[in-house]
Parts: sequence; C-alpha cells; structure tokens
Amino acid sequence: MNELFRRMLFLPEQASTVAKDVDFLHYVIITTAMVVATLIFGVTAYFLIRYRRRSETEVTRNVQTTLGWEVLFVGLPLTTFLVWFFIGYHDFIRMQTPPPDAMDVYVVGKQWMWKFTYPEGPNAIGVLRVPVGKPVRLLLTSRDVIHSFYVPAFRIKQDALPGAYTQTWFQVTKPGSYRVMCAEYCGLKHSEMWAEVLALSEEDYEAWMQEQKRGLVARRDASPSAPEREEPHKPARAAARYDAQSPHGEVMYGERGTLAERGERVAAERGCLKCHTVDGTAHIGPTWLDLYGRRERLTSGETVVADEAYLTESMMKPQVRVVAGFEPVMPTFLGVLEAAEVAALVEYIKTLRSARLETIRSEGP
Ligand code: CUA
Repeated sequence: MNELFRRMLFLPEQASTVAKDVDFLHYVIITTAMVVATLIFGVTAYFLIRYRRRSETEVTRNVQTTLGWEVLFVGLPLTTFLVWFFIGYHDFIRMQTPPPDAMDVYVVGKQWMWKFTYPEGPNAIGVLRVPVGKPVRLLLTSRDVIHSFYVPAFRIKQDALPGAYTQTWFQVTKPGSYRVMCAEYCGLKHSEMWAEVLALSEEDYEAWMQEQKRGLVARRDASPSAPEREEPHKPARAAARYDAQSPHGEVMYGERGTLAERGERVAAERGCLKCHTVDGTAHIGPTWLDLYGRRERLTSGETVVADEAYLTESMMKPQVRVVAGFEPVMPTFLGVLEAAEVAALVEYIKTLRSARLETIRSEGP
C-alpha cells in the first residue's frame, strides 16, 4: 500500500526511519483532500442540475437545515484537521528530538558546498559517511548566508544559519548513496550545491573512520615542524585550507587531532582562557568545566540549558543571554571565529564534561 502510494505520487525512495511516517501523513492529507474535493464538486454539479431554473416564474422554495446537519458539517472537517494535526505533531516532535545515543557530525554550509566534520577529527567536503542503522545528529551552521540541508530520501530539511547552530537527525535504514540538496536560495550556484550521504555498513564505516584517524596521525608525524604548528592561527590560511579540494571532490586537509583537541588550541589562540577556566573555578566568565548540558540561571531570571545552540549564541551574541552573577563584558566573536573553530570549541567544552566525571571516578568515593 505504502509502495503503491509512493509510486503514484512520484516520491523519492524512503531511506530513513521517519520517511515512511512523513509519507503516511502526506497520503492521509492527499486522500482526505481528494475525497472532500470530489464530494464538494459532486454536490455542486448535482445542485446545478437539480435546482436549475426551469421557467421564468418558478421560485425555489426556501430550504432550512437542522442543528444535526450543522453539527455534522462543522464537526467532520474539524475532526479531520485534528487528525492531521495530531499525526503531524507526533512526527514533528519525533523529528526534532535526536535519540540520546546519536553520533554527532558538524555540518558547515558555504557558498556552494557542504563540509562535514567528525568529533574524532576527520573532515570531508561533499560526502557524509554514516553507518546504517545508527542515529546521526547533525549540528548545522553556515559560513556565509542561509542554506538548507535537504535529503529527500530521508525526508529531512533543516536551515543552516550563519553564527548559530541548528540541529536535525536521521537514521538510515539501508546502505546506499543519497543526494543532499540545498533548499534555500543562496546565490549563483545554489542549484549546484550538492552533496552525498554515503550510508555504509557498520564495519565499513568503522574501517573508514580508522583509516581517517591513521591519516590524521600520519600527517601529524610527517610534519612535526610544519609552520602552522607553531604560528598563531590565521583565518586567511584556514580559509585556504578549507578550499583545497582533491580531484575526487573531498577534502582531508592538514588538520591535526580530534575536534576537541583542535578546540583546546583554538581556546588558547583566541584568548578564551583569559576569562574562562577549565578547572571549575569561576573567573571573569563561567567555567567551562561541566558547562555543557548544565542548566544556567540568567541575569533575566530565566534558565537555559547550555547546549550547542546556546554555547554558539554566547560566542556570537554574548550580551543577549548572560549567566547570572557575571558582568556582560564578553565581546562578540561574530566574524572573528570561523564556523570550524566554533565547532571545535563546542566539542572541547563537551569533553570537559566527561573529563570531570572520569576524574571523580578515578578518585573513588
Ligand atoms: Cu546553499 Cu542554496
């Protein structure tokens, strides 16, 4: 039944766990809309003929309806809309809530390409490799204008905004290659802003990830005195690295270590640690230890959970939601920090959480 409908409506294949549910809602809406339209046009046609004017003098008698019919005419459409709403709401909540065991991938949209960064360290442009059957959470941002990450086969679409993080998630159900499109007009080559999700078996994905990690280590060992190792971070060079593209459309450029390790370097180079500590003591700004996932009270009296979106906002618009007990003295890093650096910092702050837990465990009761 699902397959028949899908083909009749020319929908793309269903390759994620939510795809069938999204399509089901689509079928329900299409079907009820068609039934209702048929009824309305049918009744209209019937009335046109049945109550046509037959002579110059004939007057149609005044027809009155009853309360029962009125209730039916209001109740039926209302019930239909509520059914649509509840199916849609249920699916929406599910699609907005990544499972807790989801793996994270940072996604940066840029005119006109998609870049993927794994917390383990590897980067890729244009190809997102994921394991089949495992939930994947994407943390999206943009380096320039608004883009939208759209995978038709997964039925997911999420805007990528400059200076902020948004998220979406999916779980692929079968191995294969799936087209990623940009669904927000973003300039001259918007229509060419393609990428590919390559869904691999768990073993193939693991093998690929291990290979990438070996590559990162090899590069580090091969150029221990590479100039970028000592010199402070320069945005211009980072941009050049970003654009260096290999013939097969993928970039594995000279980044070193895991994303969190990169974040630690960024924190030092960008001066974050002049105001923030990583050992739990409050300084000019809140400590980063155990910050990720913490519920913070703000100067406005509201509370906020320090997730990716809030951490990014704190870097880009630090004056908007200030943690209670601190002065609003932090300058904005909008236009200063690159998207890749923000991802690295966020990932670093995340690991500062588990580090503390490990310390507690190793110290014993
Ligand atoms: Cu990016 Cu359209």
